[in-house]
Amino acid sequence: MKHLIDPSDLTKRELDDIISLAERIIADRRAWSNALKGRKLATLFYEPSTRTRLSFTAAMMELGGNVLGFSDAANSSVSKGESVEDTVRVVGCFADIIAMRHNLEGAPFVASCFSDVPIINAGDGSHSHPTQTLTDLLTITREIGHIDGITIGFCGDLRFGRTVHSLIKALTKYSGIRIVLIAPDELRLPDYIKHDVLDKEGMDYREVHTIEEVISELDVLYMTRVQRERFLDEDEFDRVKDSFVLDLAKLSGAKPDMAILHPLPRVNEILPEVDADPRAAYFRQVEYGKFVRMALICCLLQWKDDPDHGMPPLEGVFADATLRCTNPKCICNHEHVDPLFRKTPEGVVRCQYCDSKIR
Ligand code: CP
Repeated sequence: MKHLIDPSDLTKRELDDIISLAERIIADRRAWSNALKGRKLATLFYEPSTRTRLSFTAAMMELGGNVLGFSDAANSSVSKGESVEDTVRVVGCFADIIAMRHNLEGAPFVASCFSDVPIINAGDGSHSHPTQTLTDLLTITREIGHIDGITIGFCGDLRFGRTVHSLIKALTKYSGIRIVLIAPDELRLPDYIKHDVLDKEGMDYREVHTIEEVISELDVLYMTRVQRERFLDEDEFDRVKDSFVLDLAKLSGAKPDMAILHPLPRVNEILPEVDADPRAAYFRQVEYGKFVRMALICCLLQWKDDPDHGMPPLEGVFADATLRCTNPKCICNHEHVDPLFRKTPEGVVRCQYCDSKIR
């Protein structure tokens, strides 16, 4: 069965199919208003959300389906200690497909191991956010006209920014991409993304410290929020929280058709004065998120029993009860799950749930 836990779960062909279905839905929304009549989506949100949860809800409603679930796990039996494994087994009795957001990294992967219905990762800790990636790819396609060949600058919190990690993974499937990483030293992209994704795929990338030195090169500027909730040390957060602020003065050096994306919410990394600039695409991006989630739900339900659309094989994965993941936000340190690890071709051992380096 096809789940969407990580962008790498989708082949390039499947990515293209989802994006092109989203385009067809945008072109004729009424034609899809009964497409999923009688089907049910469960939204299980263990962590706050505005866009992702409501866009999944709106997407299913626009397809003629129904939605159930919780927006606060404290109001569910999770508060009594129910595990992710048991929760998805139960919810699978009520719903045809499940979208899960979790503060613990790897929780949607655990869910996918025990679910009888497709699981969609709606964001797990700092790890991955593949439906935001689909949103971003559709936005770039509609704003720029193509994805191949773009130069994209990622700015802000590249260390904890799951939307950045996921979009970078997906961009490896396109050709001629140039990536510029704009971050202070404390918020640089994790080594596992640099080595296991960018270096492994031979991507063209470089790291800089200011927006000004690269803005004239960019087709897409991807801004991100420095996320207070990801820091274990409040002083470290205070040191970096206002690292980058995009204003009209900085934009004066940008291409006239550059697109500014942001997964939102923003705090103060884009001043409101930028909102009226035609290059500010971040509110259009929100609506594209609904259309692409409509397309994704349709595809996953259609692919459920199709042997041509399985999950990629778990290469190099092994169980080892003597190893421990050191990431305090990994699901394996909170619930009784088998310790699973993955050995990369370079010999590095990583946690299968959260990708943290073990040795
Ligand atoms: N972009 C995004 O994930 O927003 P929410 O946290 O509001 O869902």
